[in-house]
Amino acid sequence: MPRLPKTNPRAVALKVLIRWEKGKPLLDEVLSQVLTKSVLPDERDRALVGELVNGVVRHLYYLDFLIARFSEHPLDKMDPEVRNLLRLGAYQLLYTRIPEKVAIAEGLKILSQRKRGEWIRGLVNAILHKLLENKNCLPEPPDFNKIYYLSVKHSFPEWLVKRWLKRFGEKETEVLLKASNERPALVIRVNLLKVSRDNLLIYLQKDQVPEAKACPYTPSGIVLEGFRGKVTELKPYHFGWISVQDSASQLVSYLLNPRPGERVLDACAGVGGKTTHLAELMQDKGTIWAFDLYEWRIEKLKENFQRLGLKLPQVFVGDVVEKLNEIKPPLFDRILIDAPCTGTGVIRKHPDIKWARTEEDFLKIPERQLRLLEGLSPFLKKGGIMVYATCSLEPEENEEVMQKFLQSHPEFVIEDPLKVLSRTCPEKVKELCLEGKYLKTYPHKHGLDGFFAIRLRKT
Ligand SMILES: C[S@@+](CC[C@H](N)C(=O)[O-])C[C@H]1O[C@@H](n2cnc3c(N)ncnc32)[C@H](O)[C@@H]1O
Repeated sequence: MPRLPKTNPRAVALKVLIRWEKGKPLLDEVLSQVLTKSVLPDERDRALVGELVNGVVRHLYYLDFLIARFSEHPLDKMDPEVRNLLRLGAYQLLYTRIPEKVAIAEGLKILSQRKRGEWIRGLVNAILHKLLENKNCLPEPPDFNKIYYLSVKHSFPEWLVKRWLKRFGEKETEVLLKASNERPALVIRVNLLKVSRDNLLIYLQKDQVPEAKACPYTPSGIVLEGFRGKVTELKPYHFGWISVQDSASQLVSYLLNPRPGERVLDACAGVGGKTTHLAELMQDKGTIWAFDLYEWRIEKLKENFQRLGLKLPQVFVGDVVEKLNEIKPPLFDRILIDAPCTGTGVIRKHPDIKWARTEEDFLKIPERQLRLLEGLSPFLKKGGIMVYATCSLEPEENEEVMQKFLQSHPEFVIEDPLKVLSRTCPEKVKELCLEGKYLKTYPHKHGLDGFFAIRLRKT
């Protein structure tokens, strides 16, 4: 059978979905691997691939439910190519402005190119046409079982719906599910060492993003409302004036509030989203140590520092606890632990998270988080500040990890986040500070990524 054509964005999207469905690897990684091998020079085609695969994964259960209603063949008996082609077609018909004829014809074209039998083309054609005919009165999942209904309607695994229903109740869970399926506007962080937010806003509004507006929660955030282009193609990106970072994530660095000249540890630096922000807040003066388990992330972090015109931090690849115990460095003034987590607060950006996670993760991941807190706390100076953050909405990874840590570490006290944030951030940040202890953001309440952060002082 001829291979899937590398020059057709829908065929490339199909390949990504087939690979992702097989082993549930990270969607972004499969996407980038397949795109690298594809022949799609036009940026719009590459963007279309991203839009299609994320859209299908976001609405997976609901699309499958609808396809099953209009098909005489069970979905799990179809081969992966046909099943995913149907999902792609259904997604385009229901969630995009792609002309319906094009959506159907392009799918059938792929089947012809692959020399699939006439009856398969007939089957796909019939199912997609039935879906189209019923577009304005689509069947609803049965609602005798609330968990099943919400799970299918909003495409979330039942165990996660059940967990959220218990915590948030029916109404709020549905709002949260909906918000977690919305594609958020892109948010950037202004490098205030290079340009003021007001000046950059004027520049962006005049030039490429007329609807750009200041983020109401941070002094450095700009929401690129309505912007569907590639941020790396904006001139300010090349000038090192901006980074892509959600406002909730920006708030974590404001909570640590590092000062120029200090020694700061970023224990889980990733590609440096927060590390570069820490350097900006320190006026690029002082010492930052950045760790991550993966070399490619540290390489990307270095690129980001270079692009932003910031001094490179000391970087290390490997387990931060083991490495620090080997090196035995002088103690730090501040430590940021942006811990690995289940990521339930960022499903709107990474829809595959909901399918990758299992309930077991809520036992395993908190152990890793507690190990980081335990292992890093000895490296903080007396009087120093440690911020623990996750992009998870789950108490097991947040309040409960913290409670366990504080029980055996009475030398740490919680500081009121509002006291620190009100020095640098707009008053609205008050909404995000709870019980004098926690910074908490939610997609459905604040339109931000879901983050948890807590600031501790070593006494
Ligand atoms: C939530 S992400 C960090 C995101 C990053 N701080 C940012 O703002 O872009 C967590 C990171 O911790 C890293 N990590 C997990 N366990 C680690 C460990 N024991 N030592 C060092 N890094 C670790 C992961 O590789 C991952 O990149």
